[in-house]
Amino acid sequence: MIISAPTDFRAAAKKRLPPFLFHYIDGGSYKEDTLRRNVEDLSNIALKQRVLNDMSKLDLSTEIFGEKLDLPIALAPVGLTGMYARRGEVQAAKAAENKGLPFIMSTVSVCPIEEVTPAIQRPMWFQLYVLKDREFMKNVLQRAKAAGVTTLVFTVDMPVPGARYRDMHSGMSGPFASSRRILQAMKHPKWALDVGVLGKPHDLGNISKYRGAPTELEDYIGWLGTNFDPSISWKDLEWIRDFWDGPMVIKGILDVEDAKDAVKFGADGIVVSNHGGRQLDGAMSSARALPAIADAVKGDMKIFVDSGIRSGLDVCRMMALGADCALLGRSYIYALAARGQQGVEELLDLYDKEMRVAMTLTGANSIKELTRDSLITT
Ligand code: FNR
Ligand code: LAC
Repeated sequence: MIISAPTDFRAAAKKRLPPFLFHYIDGGSYKEDTLRRNVEDLSNIALKQRVLNDMSKLDLSTEIFGEKLDLPIALAPVGLTGMYARRGEVQAAKAAENKGLPFIMSTVSVCPIEEVTPAIQRPMWFQLYVLKDREFMKNVLQRAKAAGVTTLVFTVDMPVPGARYRDMHSGMSGPFASSRRILQAMKHPKWALDVGVLGKPHDLGNISKYRGAPTELEDYIGWLGTNFDPSISWKDLEWIRDFWDGPMVIKGILDVEDAKDAVKFGADGIVVSNHGGRQLDGAMSSARALPAIADAVKGDMKIFVDSGIRSGLDVCRMMALGADCALLGRSYIYALAARGQQGVEELLDLYDKEMRVAMTLTGANSIKELTRDSLITT
């Protein structure tokens, strides 16, 4: 399969993965309207072409919380990454480090924190979900600190999981799920050997370490529904503040008032996100929500954004709309599933190239120079 564009990795991932995993990654909630709009709204943003400005010295780097990023990109937290590639979190973290970017580990990753941090020099970032078991949160935050994690990303848009109807059709959940998954694995022998057999143990590494016993993945979707806490509120964030003195980013903000509350709370950053269209279907796309949020809080804290970013051009569009840094979700996961660490590095090289062309032809010498002036807004 020839891969020449960032979006080519999706088809390669589809071929390699058993369908239950591909559709878990690829799908969104309900009718997937928000998932679709995230991508379409970004594509529809027109860049303003400017020429003859001597663009021979571009600077694509940025600084976040005192850390230098070679591109204004971080790898988003994605659950079960170790099911898409062998010990996938380790491979993704190494790719991010080699390209000078942060890797954000999900609470519900396959590899535990302690397996990933020794494999990289760069400090890892960690994403926290509020589980009903508050002792787990204390435990995992202490472990993150001990492992040298610098930044905490606290995800607030999943007090309950949105219904992902695709998962029921694909065998991720629903009737006869486990036998359907075994049949699918048998039809994908490369994945079955590389990840299914050699990539064990398959469980939620961070949670297993806390419990001292494996956390079965038999009913992962059911597990999320049972263990996530719908009572989550600003009080929980204060509680977490007591256990975390490093930078704290709130992920899942889509509304201006919530963004202002995050500033009042003292957050160091927010991620403007609808969870990649996996939660509230019908919610506004991130590209549409971002400008008003940036108008209200830019400069008060760092603005990250995700949902729908599929190319270097999209990263430039998000910067121009007011973001300081973009998170890649599916885009990098497809590359990881298709070709492991090397695939993620190839993908990031493509992002770099696309951004260079976009910046050269919009007349932006640095990330800061990507502003609304780089866009055609009429
Ligand atoms: C996610 N996302 C996510 N977010 C989070 O905070 N913790 C998590 O464990 C997960 N898990 C997860 C699994 C999968 C398979 C996907 C696709 C996404 C959401 C993720 O961090 C990010 O917000 C979205 O992926 C962004 O949208 P795009 O870039 O995928 O369109
Ligand atoms: C998801 C969760 C795990 O989107 O964040 O599937």
